[in-house]
Amino acid sequence: MMRQLVICIAIFTFFSTEACQTKRKAPPPMKTTVFGKLPDGREVHQYTLENRSGATAQIIDYGAAVTSLRVPDRNGRMADVVLGYDSLQGYIDGTAYFGAIVGRYGNRIGKGRFQLDGKEYQLTINDGENHLHGGKVGFNKVLWDAKAGGSEEASLQLQYVSRDGEEGYPGTVTLKVTYTWTDKNELRIDYDGTTDQPTILNPTQHSYFNLSGSFENTVLDHLLMIEADGITPVDKGLIPTGKVENVANTPMDFRTPMAIGAHIDDANEQLAFGKGYDHNWVLKGGAGKLRKVAELYEAASGRMMTIFTDQPGLQFYSGNFLDGSAKGKNGVAYKHRSGLCLEAQAFPDTPNKPQFPPVTLRPGQKYRQTTIYQFSTK
Ligand code: GLA
Repeated sequence: MMRQLVICIAIFTFFSTEACQTKRKAPPPMKTTVFGKLPDGREVHQYTLENRSGATAQIIDYGAAVTSLRVPDRNGRMADVVLGYDSLQGYIDGTAYFGAIVGRYGNRIGKGRFQLDGKEYQLTINDGENHLHGGKVGFNKVLWDAKAGGSEEASLQLQYVSRDGEEGYPGTVTLKVTYTWTDKNELRIDYDGTTDQPTILNPTQHSYFNLSGSFENTVLDHLLMIEADGITPVDKGLIPTGKVENVANTPMDFRTPMAIGAHIDDANEQLAFGKGYDHNWVLKGGAGKLRKVAELYEAASGRMMTIFTDQPGLQFYSGNFLDGSAKGKNGVAYKHRSGLCLEAQAFPDTPNKPQFPPVTLRPGQKYRQTTIYQFSTK
Protein backbone atom coordinates (compact mmCIF):
# COMPACT_ATOMS: atom_id res chain seq x y z
CA MET A 1 0.00 0.00 0.00
CA MET A 2 2.77 2.38 1.11
CA ARG A 3 4.79 1.46 -1.98
CA GLN A 4 1.86 2.18 -4.27
CA LEU A 5 1.36 5.54 -2.61
CA VAL A 6 5.04 6.45 -3.07
CA ILE A 7 4.86 5.47 -6.77
CA CYS A 8 1.73 7.55 -7.22
CA ILE A 9 3.36 10.60 -5.63
CA ALA A 10 6.47 10.12 -7.76
CA ILE A 11 4.41 9.93 -10.97
CA PHE A 12 2.38 13.01 -9.97
CA THR A 13 5.56 14.99 -9.15
CA PHE A 14 7.15 14.03 -12.47
CA PHE A 15 4.15 15.13 -14.51
CA SER A 16 3.87 18.43 -12.69
CA THR A 17 7.48 19.44 -13.37
CA GLU A 18 8.14 22.13 -15.95
CA ALA A 19 10.10 19.70 -18.09
CA CYS A 20 6.99 17.69 -18.63
CA GLN A 21 4.57 20.53 -19.24
CA THR A 22 3.55 21.01 -22.84
CA LYS A 23 2.38 24.58 -22.23
CA ARG A 24 4.59 26.99 -24.20
CA LYS A 25 6.18 30.11 -22.82
CA ALA A 26 4.45 33.37 -23.60
CA PRO A 27 5.70 35.31 -26.64
CA PRO A 28 7.97 38.33 -25.89
CA PRO A 29 5.94 40.99 -24.04
CA MET A 30 4.20 43.64 -26.14
CA LYS A 31 6.10 46.96 -26.21
CA THR A 32 4.16 50.19 -26.03
CA THR A 33 5.58 53.60 -26.97
CA VAL A 34 4.04 57.04 -27.44
CA PHE A 35 3.77 57.63 -31.19
CA GLY A 36 2.56 61.22 -30.99
CA LYS A 37 -0.20 63.51 -29.78
CA LEU A 38 -3.45 64.44 -31.52
CA PRO A 39 -4.29 68.17 -31.80
CA ASP A 40 -6.73 67.72 -28.86
CA GLY A 41 -3.89 66.41 -26.68
CA ARG A 42 -4.77 62.71 -26.65
CA GLU A 43 -1.77 60.40 -26.94
CA VAL A 44 -1.42 57.92 -29.76
CA HIS A 45 0.50 54.74 -28.97
CA GLN A 46 2.47 52.33 -31.04
CA TYR A 47 2.37 48.66 -30.04
CA THR A 48 5.08 46.23 -31.09
CA LEU A 49 4.08 42.59 -31.28
CA GLU A 50 6.92 40.12 -31.58
CA ASN A 51 6.36 36.45 -32.26
CA ARG A 52 8.55 33.57 -31.14
CA SER A 53 10.50 33.63 -34.42
CA GLY A 54 11.51 37.28 -33.95
CA ALA A 55 9.31 38.78 -36.68
CA THR A 56 7.45 41.92 -35.62
CA ALA A 57 4.20 43.73 -36.32
CA GLN A 58 3.67 47.34 -35.26
CA ILE A 59 0.24 48.89 -34.88
CA ILE A 60 -0.97 52.28 -33.71
CA ASP A 61 -4.28 52.99 -32.03
CA TYR A 62 -4.96 55.89 -34.44
CA GLY A 63 -6.92 54.29 -37.29
CA ALA A 64 -6.01 50.85 -35.86
CA ALA A 65 -3.28 51.09 -38.47
CA VAL A 66 -0.52 48.57 -39.10
CA THR A 67 2.62 50.69 -39.33
CA SER A 68 5.20 47.98 -40.03
CA LEU A 69 5.49 44.24 -40.60
CA ARG A 70 9.02 42.88 -40.52
CA VAL A 71 9.28 39.41 -42.04
CA PRO A 72 12.23 37.36 -43.32
CA ASP A 73 13.28 36.81 -46.93
CA ARG A 74 14.49 33.39 -48.09
CA ASN A 75 17.88 34.03 -46.41
CA GLY A 76 16.32 35.05 -43.13
CA ARG A 77 16.91 38.79 -43.63
CA MET A 78 14.10 40.78 -42.06
CA ALA A 79 12.52 43.73 -43.86
CA ASP A 80 9.42 45.82 -43.57
CA VAL A 81 6.75 44.94 -46.16
CA VAL A 82 4.06 47.59 -45.59
CA LEU A 83 3.99 51.26 -46.54
CA GLY A 84 3.46 53.87 -43.85
CA TYR A 85 4.74 57.04 -42.24
CA ASP A 86 7.42 57.70 -39.65
CA SER A 87 5.28 60.05 -37.61
CA LEU A 88 1.69 60.52 -36.48
CA GLN A 89 1.38 63.69 -38.59
CA GLY A 90 1.71 61.54 -41.73
CA TYR A 91 -1.29 59.46 -40.67
CA ILE A 92 -3.30 62.54 -39.68
CA ASP A 93 -2.68 64.33 -42.99
CA GLY A 94 -2.47 61.28 -45.26
CA THR A 95 -5.17 60.48 -47.79
CA ALA A 96 -4.02 57.00 -48.83
CA TYR A 97 -5.37 54.97 -45.85
CA PHE A 98 -1.94 53.37 -45.23
CA GLY A 99 -2.33 50.31 -43.00
CA ALA A 100 -5.65 51.42 -41.51
CA ILE A 101 -8.92 49.74 -40.76
CA VAL A 102 -11.42 51.47 -43.02
CA GLY A 103 -15.14 51.70 -42.37
CA ARG A 104 -17.94 51.68 -41.67
CA TYR A 105 -18.05 50.81 -45.33
CA GLY A 106 -14.86 49.77 -47.08
CA ASN A 107 -14.89 51.08 -50.67
CA ARG A 108 -17.64 53.06 -52.41
CA ILE A 109 -21.36 53.63 -52.09
CA GLY A 110 -22.84 55.29 -55.18
CA LYS A 111 -23.79 58.92 -54.47
CA GLY A 112 -23.44 58.01 -50.79
CA ARG A 113 -27.09 57.02 -50.79
CA PHE A 114 -28.91 53.87 -49.79
CA GLN A 115 -32.21 52.64 -48.42
CA LEU A 116 -32.68 50.41 -45.43
CA ASP A 117 -36.09 49.21 -44.24
CA GLY A 118 -37.71 51.79 -46.52
CA LYS A 119 -35.75 54.73 -45.11
CA GLU A 120 -33.27 56.70 -47.21
CA TYR A 121 -29.85 57.59 -45.80
CA GLN A 122 -27.36 60.13 -47.14
CA LEU A 123 -23.73 59.54 -46.28
CA THR A 124 -20.86 62.01 -46.57
CA ILE A 125 -19.68 62.50 -50.14
CA ASN A 126 -15.87 62.38 -50.21
CA ASP A 127 -14.87 60.83 -53.55
CA GLY A 128 -16.25 62.69 -56.57
CA GLU A 129 -19.99 62.24 -56.18
CA ASN A 130 -19.61 59.07 -54.09
CA HIS A 131 -18.93 57.92 -50.54
CA LEU A 132 -15.59 56.19 -49.97
CA HIS A 133 -14.15 54.24 -47.02
CA GLY A 134 -16.52 55.57 -44.36
CA GLY A 135 -16.41 59.28 -45.27
CA LYS A 136 -14.31 62.27 -44.19
CA VAL A 137 -13.64 60.96 -40.71
CA GLY A 138 -13.75 57.23 -41.22
CA PHE A 139 -12.43 54.53 -38.87
CA ASN A 140 -8.94 55.38 -40.20
CA LYS A 141 -9.06 58.89 -38.71
CA VAL A 142 -10.17 58.12 -35.15
CA LEU A 143 -8.44 56.96 -31.98
CA TRP A 144 -9.34 53.41 -30.97
CA ASP A 145 -9.18 51.92 -27.44
CA ALA A 146 -6.38 49.39 -27.28
CA LYS A 147 -5.47 46.61 -24.89
CA ALA A 148 -3.19 43.58 -25.02
CA GLY A 149 -4.91 40.46 -26.29
CA GLY A 150 -4.43 36.81 -25.28
CA SER A 151 -1.20 35.43 -23.83
CA GLU A 152 -0.66 32.41 -26.12
CA GLU A 153 0.16 34.51 -29.18
CA ALA A 154 1.17 38.16 -29.48
CA SER A 155 -2.06 40.08 -29.94
CA LEU A 156 -3.71 43.47 -29.62
CA GLN A 157 -7.41 44.29 -29.28
CA LEU A 158 -8.77 47.57 -30.54
CA GLN A 159 -12.26 48.91 -30.12
CA TYR A 160 -14.10 51.85 -31.61
CA VAL A 161 -17.65 53.00 -30.88
CA SER A 162 -19.10 54.80 -33.89
CA ARG A 163 -22.01 56.96 -32.83
CA ASP A 164 -25.46 57.00 -34.45
CA GLY A 165 -25.38 59.46 -37.36
CA GLU A 166 -21.59 59.45 -37.78
CA GLU A 167 -20.86 60.28 -41.45
CA GLY A 168 -24.59 59.72 -42.04
CA TYR A 169 -24.77 56.07 -40.93
CA PRO A 170 -27.66 54.95 -38.72
CA GLY A 171 -27.12 53.23 -35.37
CA THR A 172 -24.31 53.16 -32.85
CA VAL A 173 -21.85 50.50 -33.92
CA THR A 174 -19.24 48.93 -31.64
CA LEU A 175 -16.43 47.35 -33.59
CA LYS A 176 -13.65 45.25 -32.09
CA VAL A 177 -10.62 44.39 -34.17
CA THR A 178 -8.11 41.89 -32.81
CA TYR A 179 -4.73 41.66 -34.47
CA THR A 180 -2.83 38.45 -33.70
CA TRP A 181 0.75 38.09 -34.84
CA THR A 182 1.23 34.34 -34.84
CA ASP A 183 4.42 32.29 -34.66
CA LYS A 184 3.81 31.28 -38.28
CA ASN A 185 4.29 34.93 -39.32
CA GLU A 186 0.59 35.42 -39.88
CA LEU A 187 -1.24 38.66 -39.25
CA ARG A 188 -4.66 37.43 -38.24
CA ILE A 189 -7.44 40.01 -38.08
CA ASP A 190 -10.66 39.16 -36.29
CA TYR A 191 -13.51 41.66 -36.48
CA ASP A 192 -16.51 41.61 -34.21
CA GLY A 193 -19.27 44.21 -34.55
CA THR A 194 -22.67 45.00 -33.05
CA THR A 195 -25.26 47.73 -33.54
CA ASP A 196 -28.23 49.18 -31.65
CA GLN A 197 -30.23 49.99 -34.83
CA PRO A 198 -30.35 48.45 -38.30
CA THR A 199 -27.30 49.63 -40.24
CA ILE A 200 -24.68 48.53 -42.74
CA LEU A 201 -21.16 47.41 -41.84
CA ASN A 202 -18.29 46.37 -44.10
CA PRO A 203 -14.88 47.17 -42.61
CA THR A 204 -11.59 46.11 -44.18
CA GLN A 205 -7.82 46.36 -43.75
CA HIS A 206 -6.01 48.79 -46.03
CA SER A 207 -2.32 47.81 -45.80
CA TYR A 208 -0.17 48.49 -48.85
CA PHE A 209 2.26 45.63 -49.42
CA ASN A 210 5.61 45.59 -51.15
CA LEU A 211 7.37 42.29 -50.48
CA SER A 212 10.71 43.27 -52.05
CA GLY A 213 12.17 44.78 -48.90
CA SER A 214 12.69 48.17 -50.57
CA PHE A 215 9.95 50.72 -51.09
CA GLU A 216 12.00 52.24 -53.90
CA ASN A 217 10.79 49.31 -56.02
CA THR A 218 7.37 49.11 -57.63
CA VAL A 219 5.17 46.05 -57.21
CA LEU A 220 4.87 45.44 -60.96
CA ASP A 221 7.05 42.32 -60.83
CA HIS A 222 5.13 40.76 -57.92
CA LEU A 223 3.20 37.67 -59.00
CA LEU A 224 -0.42 37.61 -57.93
CA MET A 225 -2.91 34.77 -57.87
CA ILE A 226 -6.56 35.31 -56.92
CA GLU A 227 -9.03 32.45 -56.48
CA ALA A 228 -11.78 34.10 -58.50
CA ASP A 229 -13.48 33.54 -61.85
CA GLY A 230 -15.13 36.96 -61.93
CA ILE A 231 -14.92 40.63 -61.04
CA THR A 232 -17.63 43.20 -60.48
CA PRO A 233 -16.99 45.67 -63.34
CA VAL A 234 -17.33 49.36 -62.54
CA ASP A 235 -18.39 52.62 -64.19
CA LYS A 236 -16.02 55.57 -64.48
CA GLY A 237 -16.75 56.61 -60.89
CA LEU A 238 -15.65 53.09 -59.80
CA ILE A 239 -19.18 52.09 -58.79
CA PRO A 240 -20.07 48.48 -59.75
CA THR A 241 -22.53 48.13 -62.62
CA GLY A 242 -24.11 45.23 -60.72
CA LYS A 243 -22.91 42.57 -63.15
CA VAL A 244 -20.26 39.92 -62.63
CA GLU A 245 -17.81 39.59 -65.52
CA ASN A 246 -15.77 36.46 -66.20
CA VAL A 247 -12.02 37.07 -66.02
CA ALA A 248 -11.17 34.64 -68.86
CA ASN A 249 -9.28 36.34 -71.71
CA THR A 250 -9.05 39.65 -69.83
CA PRO A 251 -6.20 41.37 -67.92
CA MET A 252 -8.18 40.48 -64.76
CA ASP A 253 -7.34 36.79 -65.04
CA PHE A 254 -5.21 36.03 -61.96
CA ARG A 255 -6.42 32.43 -61.65
CA THR A 256 -2.81 31.37 -62.15
CA PRO A 257 0.05 33.59 -60.90
CA MET A 258 0.61 36.58 -63.16
CA ALA A 259 2.96 39.57 -62.83
CA ILE A 260 0.99 42.65 -61.87
CA GLY A 261 2.77 44.62 -64.58
CA ALA A 262 2.06 42.07 -67.32
CA HIS A 263 -1.22 43.62 -68.51
CA ILE A 264 -1.72 46.65 -66.27
CA ASP A 265 -1.34 49.10 -69.15
CA ASP A 266 -3.38 47.13 -71.70
CA ALA A 267 -6.05 49.00 -73.62
CA ASN A 268 -9.03 47.94 -71.53
CA GLU A 269 -11.98 50.01 -70.34
CA GLN A 270 -11.93 48.61 -66.79
CA LEU A 271 -8.19 49.34 -66.40
CA ALA A 272 -8.76 52.82 -67.82
CA PHE A 273 -11.49 53.51 -65.24
CA GLY A 274 -9.28 52.26 -62.40
CA LYS A 275 -6.07 53.82 -63.77
CA GLY A 276 -4.80 50.27 -63.28
CA TYR A 277 -6.24 47.55 -61.05
CA ASP A 278 -8.84 48.87 -58.64
CA HIS A 279 -11.56 46.24 -58.72
CA ASN A 280 -13.43 43.71 -56.64
CA TRP A 281 -12.75 40.03 -57.36
CA VAL A 282 -15.64 37.64 -56.64
CA LEU A 283 -13.95 35.01 -54.50
CA LYS A 284 -14.62 31.32 -54.99
CA GLY A 285 -15.91 29.15 -52.19
CA GLY A 286 -18.68 31.39 -50.88
CA ALA A 287 -18.74 33.83 -48.03
CA GLY A 288 -18.61 32.74 -44.39
CA LYS A 289 -15.93 30.10 -44.94
CA LEU A 290 -12.31 30.87 -44.08
CA ARG A 291 -10.40 29.75 -47.18
CA LYS A 292 -7.28 30.59 -49.13
CA VAL A 293 -8.16 33.33 -51.62
CA ALA A 294 -4.91 34.83 -52.91
CA GLU A 295 -1.12 34.58 -53.10
CA LEU A 296 1.42 37.30 -53.71
CA TYR A 297 5.04 36.40 -54.50
CA GLU A 298 8.20 38.44 -55.01
CA ALA A 299 10.86 36.25 -56.60
CA ALA A 300 14.04 38.22 -55.75
CA SER A 301 13.45 38.09 -51.98
CA GLY A 302 11.47 34.84 -52.08
CA ARG A 303 8.78 36.43 -49.90
CA MET A 304 5.30 35.07 -50.31
CA MET A 305 2.07 36.31 -48.81
CA THR A 306 -0.98 34.05 -48.70
CA ILE A 307 -4.39 35.50 -47.86
CA PHE A 308 -7.21 33.65 -46.17
CA THR A 309 -10.60 35.22 -45.55
CA ASP A 310 -14.26 34.43 -44.99
CA GLN A 311 -15.34 37.45 -47.04
CA PRO A 312 -17.06 37.25 -50.47
CA GLY A 313 -14.82 39.80 -52.21
CA LEU A 314 -11.23 41.00 -52.53
CA GLN A 315 -10.48 44.53 -53.70
CA PHE A 316 -7.15 44.54 -55.51
CA TYR A 317 -5.84 48.10 -55.78
CA SER A 318 -2.44 48.50 -57.46
CA GLY A 319 -1.44 51.78 -55.81
CA ASN A 320 -2.49 53.84 -58.85
CA PHE A 321 -2.99 57.03 -56.87
CA LEU A 322 0.48 56.94 -55.36
CA ASP A 323 2.42 59.64 -57.19
CA GLY A 324 5.52 60.32 -55.12
CA SER A 325 3.86 63.04 -53.05
CA ALA A 326 3.45 60.84 -49.94
CA LYS A 327 6.76 60.89 -48.04
CA GLY A 328 6.90 57.60 -46.24
CA LYS A 329 9.08 55.85 -43.70
CA ASN A 330 12.77 56.80 -43.83
CA GLY A 331 11.90 59.71 -46.13
CA VAL A 332 11.11 57.47 -49.10
CA ALA A 333 8.66 59.05 -51.54
CA TYR A 334 6.12 56.41 -52.47
CA LYS A 335 6.03 56.45 -56.22
CA HIS A 336 3.32 55.21 -58.56
CA ARG A 337 2.49 51.54 -57.87
CA SER A 338 5.10 51.05 -55.14
CA GLY A 339 2.55 49.27 -52.97
CA LEU A 340 -0.64 47.30 -53.48
CA CYS A 341 -3.71 46.57 -51.39
CA LEU A 342 -5.64 43.31 -51.17
CA GLU A 343 -8.71 44.23 -49.14
CA ALA A 344 -11.02 41.43 -48.05
CA GLN A 345 -14.59 42.67 -47.82
CA ALA A 346 -18.13 42.61 -49.19
CA PHE A 347 -18.63 44.01 -52.69
CA PRO A 348 -18.60 47.79 -53.26
CA ASP A 349 -22.01 49.51 -53.35
CA THR A 350 -23.83 46.45 -51.97
CA PRO A 351 -26.52 48.58 -50.26
CA ASN A 352 -27.69 49.53 -53.77
CA LYS A 353 -27.16 46.10 -55.32
CA PRO A 354 -29.62 43.58 -53.84
CA GLN A 355 -28.01 40.80 -55.91
CA PHE A 356 -24.70 41.15 -53.96
CA PRO A 357 -24.07 39.31 -50.65
CA PRO A 358 -25.71 41.44 -47.92
CA VAL A 359 -24.06 43.89 -45.51
CA THR A 360 -27.01 44.76 -43.26
CA LEU A 361 -26.44 44.43 -39.53
CA ARG A 362 -29.34 44.41 -37.09
CA PRO A 363 -29.53 44.66 -33.30
CA GLY A 364 -28.87 41.24 -31.76
CA GLN A 365 -26.77 40.11 -34.73
CA LYS A 366 -22.99 39.95 -34.78
CA TYR A 367 -20.79 41.10 -37.61
CA ARG A 368 -17.76 38.84 -37.88
CA GLN A 369 -14.84 38.70 -40.23
CA THR A 370 -11.54 36.82 -40.13
CA THR A 371 -8.77 37.64 -42.58
CA ILE A 372 -5.21 36.30 -42.42
CA TYR A 373 -2.11 37.60 -44.19
CA GLN A 374 0.43 34.79 -43.91
CA PHE A 375 4.09 35.38 -44.77
CA SER A 376 6.46 32.63 -45.90
CA THR A 377 9.31 32.18 -48.40
CA LYS A 378 9.88 30.06 -51.45
C1 GLA B 1 -9.30 51.70 -52.34
C2 GLA B 1 -10.05 52.22 -53.51
C3 GLA B 1 -9.17 53.05 -54.36
C4 GLA B 1 -8.54 54.15 -53.56
C5 GLA B 1 -7.78 53.56 -52.42
C6 GLA B 1 -7.21 54.61 -51.52
O1 GLA B 1 -8.58 50.60 -52.60
O2 GLA B 1 -10.67 51.20 -54.26
O3 GLA B 1 -9.90 53.58 -55.43
O4 GLA B 1 -9.50 55.02 -53.08
O5 GLA B 1 -8.59 52.73 -51.67
O6 GLA B 1 -6.45 55.54 -52.18
